[in-house]
Amino acid sequence: MKTALMLVATIKRVFSGTGYGLIALLMVGVMEIHAATESTAVRQLARGEYLARVGNCLGCHTTKGGQPFAGGLRLTTSFGTFVTPNITPDDETGIGRWSQEDFWRAMHEGKSRDGRLLYPAFPYTDYTKVTREDADLIFAYLRSIPAVSQSNPPHEIRFPYNYRPLLYVWRALFFKQGIYEPDSTKSEEWNRGAYLVQGLGHCNACHTARNVLGASQDEHASEGQIMDSNWYAPSLTTRQEAGSMDWSIEEIVELLTVGVTQRAMMSGPMGTVVRQSLQYLTPEDARAMAVYLKSLPESDAPPEVRYPEMPEGVRKYLAQGEKLYEKHCQDCHGASGQGAPGIYPALTGNRSVTMAIPTNVIRIVLNGGYPPTTAANPQPYGMPPFQQIIRDEEVAQLVSFIRNAWGNRGSLVTPVDVGQSRGSRH
Ligand code: HEC
Ligand code: HEC
Ligand code: HEC
Repeated sequence: MKTALMLVATIKRVFSGTGYGLIALLMVGVMEIHAATESTAVRQLARGEYLARVGNCLGCHTTKGGQPFAGGLRLTTSFGTFVTPNITPDDETGIGRWSQEDFWRAMHEGKSRDGRLLYPAFPYTDYTKVTREDADLIFAYLRSIPAVSQSNPPHEIRFPYNYRPLLYVWRALFFKQGIYEPDSTKSEEWNRGAYLVQGLGHCNACHTARNVLGASQDEHASEGQIMDSNWYAPSLTTRQEAGSMDWSIEEIVELLTVGVTQRAMMSGPMGTVVRQSLQYLTPEDARAMAVYLKSLPESDAPPEVRYPEMPEGVRKYLAQGEKLYEKHCQDCHGASGQGAPGIYPALTGNRSVTMAIPTNVIRIVLNGGYPPTTAANPQPYGMPPFQQIIRDEEVAQLVSFIRNAWGNRGSLVTPVDVGQSRGSRH
């Protein structure tokens, strides 16, 4: 593009004032048009790549160390294991023979090229809100990446879910097809945020409770759910969980794109979403998402609990936990759970610790982990796993303690809760 423009400039200079002026001018005109279309094409591909990032297509359609978009990633769910297909432009094993129309049908209607109904493990229930223009840009980008010949192993889905025609019934009940319709009473920025969160960002694929058939229930959108991986995706509409109604826009943007703030850290599958997708948001899109998330109406707040005086037995239980905390945790998280800004999260006033459902806090203590690696936080400090070091009973005491120390309040955790988390680790 740059070279083309330089050439144009040179031709103009050399031929100006000569007898070849008219021909030169014509040549220049053709080249300028060519250069302009070329630059539009380049810009459109970059736009398609960006949109694919926001949709995190790469995250699901690539295995660790595998070829980009060649599929093969195994997604374990309660219905069985889905293996993501190859979506590189390979004719035989990828989507090389697909037309723009075929691709639109997949994104918008959840149908494959041959008319086969697709499983909603591919989040087309959210992608259906994406505009035709954006879908076409993503498709153009996918056509431009290297074709990889890698065949698609079958899904390993349990009966009766392996019977695809069942999806007809499921779709009739739960799939609402249609692009995002802007709300004219809201700002352009808010609508952009809503479009991204509900559509390409597919936040509700995890943050909305699903019924037995794996359908998300619209009227309970963003209210949180236990995922198949046994992480709890907290409610985006509850301030005690992942709601951001009392956060500043800047803080929400930081949480989404850096993954770490003074008050919270993105962990587990959410850390992956930040690392693979959200950190690449443009400042405008990140802000739009934040504006929309902050505006989400609060679902019924949990009832105010009056804590009675703690019985002796409970105090002993928590005192055991305190001892374990001093031994294993205090060096990093501080004597009063204050943490170290930007390095070790504070445990006091941290909703990941006190949330009614203790699944995530147990998992973090058992498995440890890292906050996401992002441009703004390239070498995050990690937390060691404790599953080999402390018994279930001790983990229960420890987690119960941090849920009730330094002004925190949360229900007690039992060794059975801990055992369940150990049992279903993937
Ligand atoms: C949460 C994981 C996940 C994400 C994110 C995801 N996909 Fe998929 N995708 C799947 C699974 C699983 C299937 C297979 C569904 C089936 O076989 O019914 C699939 C199927 C497809 C198909 C149909 C392929 C075929 O041969 O029928 C296309 C096209 C596709 N995805 C494109 C995309 C694009 C584009 C994006 C990003 C905007 C994306 N996917 C994001 C999991 C995902
Ligand atoms: C693959 C599933 C998945 C997707 C997709 C997903 N989330 Fe999450 N999210 C989770 C889980 C699990 C947690 C709990 C772990 C944690 O707190 O970091 C979480 C936590 C959060 C939190 C609270 C973090 C904290 O500690 O206070 C926010 C805010 C959030 N998600 C917003 C979003 C938004 C916005 C999107 C869409 C752009 C999104 N999530 C997409 C699974 C997901
Ligand atoms: C070597 C330092 C270190 C030690 C020791 C340590 N942690 Fe952590 N902890 C971290 C780091 C770093 C994170 C952030 C990890 C992440 O986001 O995945 C973290 C995260 C957490 C979280 C999640 C907070 C959030 O906002 O999501 C909890 C809860 C927690 N630690 C509890 C404990 C407990 C209980 C112990 C003792 C058994 C402990 N930690 C020991 C460094 C440590």
